Amino acid sequence: MRMRRKPWVRTELAESEFFIDNPLENIGKWHKTFKRTKQPMHLELGCGKGSFIAKLASQNPQINYLGIDIKSEVLGLAKRNIEKEYLKAKREIDNVLLTAYEIEIIQNILNEKDKIDRIYINFCNPWPKPRHNKKD
Ligand SMILES: C[S@@+](CC[C@H](N)C(=O)[O-])C[C@H]1O[C@@H](n2cnc3c(N)ncnc32)[C@H](O)[C@@H]1O
Repeated sequence: MRMRRKPWVRTELAESEFFIDNPLENIGKWHKTFKRTKQPMHLELGCGKGSFIAKLASQNPQINYLGIDIKSEVLGLAKRNIEKEYLKAKREIDNVLLTAYEIEIIQNILNEKDKIDRIYINFCNPWPKPRHNKKD
């Protein structure tokens, strides 16, 4: 997903209560980082603009959601989408966290103490192109 630079993203994410700036510090502590500390955690890899996690999290207060994407630019949009959905649901944002990280090295930020009950991967990229098809 190619994106124009958004000058507001860095400040908004830095000020957001549900954006985790240094996920390395959270290894083994994700459950305790949520405001609701004693409930299952679901993970979305490559959450992009956050439309999926925003709807799900705002409608399921009994589950904690962690959204990870490599691009801060899209996480800025995810943050805004989450705020919009919680406003609609008239709920405090207490069961969702976002962080920017490369999921190929996700073992640096999650360990066995960070029990995850479900993983979502929606429309991952890169999309295979026709030219990538094996030729005989
Ligand atoms: C096609 S978009 C889909 C976004 C979202 N899941 C959706 O359904 O709208 C794929 C997303 O995965 C992210 N992504 C791709 N490779 C990644 C990686 N190695 N680590 C973390 N995120 C990655 C991209 O930045 C992008 O936001």
